[in-house]
Amino acid sequence: MIADATMGATIGNYRPDQVAIMLASKSIDERATMPSTPIRRIAICTGGGDAPGLNAVIRAVVIAAVNRGWECYGIRDGFNGILFPERYVDGGVLRLTRERVHGIGHLGGTMLGTTNKGNPFHFPTRMPDGSVRDLDRSDEILSTLARKKLTPWCQWGRWFPDHCRRTAQKGLRVVGVPKTIDNDLDKTMTTFGFDTAVSFATDCLDRLHSTAESHHRLMVVEVMGRYAGWIALHSGIAGNAHAILLPEIPSDLDIVASHILAREAQGHPYSVVVVAEGAAPRNGHTELLAPAEIGHAERLGGMGEHVAKALQERTGKDARVVVLGHLLRGGSPTAFDRLAALRFGAAAVRALDEGLTGVMVALAFQM
Ligand code: F6P
Repeated sequence: MIADATMGATIGNYRPDQVAIMLASKSIDERATMPSTPIRRIAICTGGGDAPGLNAVIRAVVIAAVNRGWECYGIRDGFNGILFPERYVDGGVLRLTRERVHGIGHLGGTMLGTTNKGNPFHFPTRMPDGSVRDLDRSDEILSTLARKKLTPWCQWGRWFPDHCRRTAQKGLRVVGVPKTIDNDLDKTMTTFGFDTAVSFATDCLDRLHSTAESHHRLMVVEVMGRYAGWIALHSGIAGNAHAILLPEIPSDLDIVASHILAREAQGHPYSVVVVAEGAAPRNGHTELLAPAEIGHAERLGGMGEHVAKALQERTGKDARVVVLGHLLRGGSPTAFDRLAALRFGAAAVRALDEGLTGVMVALAFQM
């Protein structure tokens, strides 16, 4: 039995075969299959923001593929290894052997590199006049992969379902895994990277309690997650925060301030407040560090600072802000994420072996 920390409930027996194969956007019964030509080579690419566990997935895929007699290749930096081979000493695509992926399962980041400006369907491309245009370069990428006899296999977070569907529609076999610290993907109980981010944020909150209490201060902690409040909610509850501001619920800072003052009246003159980067005050707006640009979504950030200022004004208490930011994405994956990632990788190879395409593997808990 394991307790599912993300749900706060016991979830029952947990077996590797519960890493189910699911369509990214449809029900499990509507699996798409390709005419099954035998697979000889597959490629892995990691795109979007990195998440702890990516290396464990790579390792699992390589081992599962090699065990089937397939050759395995890794594409550098999303699809950049295919589009700009001249930038890489190894030509942008490297052979992945069992030895090459030995001892990487516990490492953060991705050994292949990544980019969050690599959406093949909206690729930011510099033109001769210096301007940058949003171009659909998917045909170029997919025909190169087909010419090299590489079946792409990707791990995209937020964009993956769209990529996956459109790539499969173009006739290439593709299987995805649910990767993101934000945990904002549908059809899976969890994404890998999330548990690591929550564990680290919780550890930080534990540390911040003592200094907040010693100084009788407000400590406002901003966490990533884009427009999903999972990291804020789970770390906030686990780390005993006194208020948690989520994107899903417009925040009323007057209520938060009166809660802080009520705590003070009860003899607790300090508070720890967790703020999701995508949270917004009632009648207010989300704070941005940078607007969206071609091929890259807007950068969220600054809500912690906004909330700290507003609460300081309303309560008269000294406030400090800690932005956990990319620390949540770095470092070694937790044991949970390592195991989830290994299972996702093995399941992705099973999916390819079964002739599936346009699918994402998912963690499905059966009660
Ligand atoms: O999607 C993962 C994520 O870490 C978000 O939580 C965050 O908003 C974003 O990526 C940051 O991206 P970048 O690495 O471009 O700053």
